[in-house]
Amino acid sequence: MSRIALVTGGSRGIGAAISTTLKDKGYTVAATYAGNDEAAAKFTEETGIKTYKWNVADYDASKAGIEQVEADLGPIEVVVANAGITRDAPFHKMTPDQWNEVIATNLTGVFNTIHPVWPGMRERKFGRVVVISSINGQKGQFAQVNYAATKAGDLGIVKSLAQEGARAGITANAICPGYIATDMVMAVPEKVRESIIAQIPAGRLGEPEEIARAVAFLVSDDAGFINGSTISANGAQFVV
Ligand SMILES: NC(=O)c1ccc[n+]([C@@H]2O[C@H](COP(=O)([O-])OP(=O)(O)OC[C@H]3O[C@@H](n4cnc5c(N)ncnc54)[C@H](OP(=O)(O)O)[C@@H]3O)[C@@H](O)[C@H]2O)c1
Repeated sequence: MSRIALVTGGSRGIGAAISTTLKDKGYTVAATYAGNDEAAAKFTEETGIKTYKWNVADYDASKAGIEQVEADLGPIEVVVANAGITRDAPFHKMTPDQWNEVIATNLTGVFNTIHPVWPGMRERKFGRVVVISSINGQKGQFAQVNYAATKAGDLGIVKSLAQEGARAGITANAICPGYIATDMVMAVPEKVRESIIAQIPAGRLGEPEEIARAVAFLVSDDAGFINGSTISANGAQFVV
């Protein structure tokens, strides 16, 4: 029987690459999204991967959505908390709304995604949790006090979960992508993109599939002793 994997924000960008890579490796994948019905429908049509809509910032919606996925597909053994947003502004201009929205999605959203599946993983003595953090959670970034705080917080979540889950056969790890060629990054003006690339020793943006392959390794049986770790995937832009 194939393992069931839940990928939040799994219909676009890095999440879409994670969903399709896991499907190609034999997992049954449920991909979630927030509101872009058109992109989700197109993704399902092209890949055959089921999509589910809920806001990861809402605990009750997450719990109900996860119950629906489990009713449709079976117990979730792999969770990839990937959904994330930016609301950038220099700190002196950042509004409480910009702060709260990013905290609710990128930090509380990770709690809301993992918490409902955790008891089942403990009972079944197997689980794989991967959180998609960011290079900017490791090093900070101008105009991203909110985003960097959440992505650094995500690393604290996996380090703590790793210690709690290890005896129950559950691993929790994080990946910190550098700049990846998704809609978000490709939408910035070419000049800005060139200045970003100039800071990357690899001389290029990363591809979503390069993050997806790291996820596929972390959730595999081969990675059972890798727990609480952070994988940097940034073309040597920031070396921890
Ligand atoms: N791209 C990069 O260079 C980069 C670098 C480092 C880290 N990351 C992290 O990687 C993750 C994916 O980034 P990306 O660039 O692939 O993003 P993206 O292309 O903007 O896609 C984001 C996905 O998350 C979903 N989403 C957003 N808010 C949500 C919410 N409140 N509830 C449920 N789903 C929600 C979106 O759904 P809709 O389609 O409905 O909007 C979409 O499926 C994020 O956590 C991001 O912080 C990205």
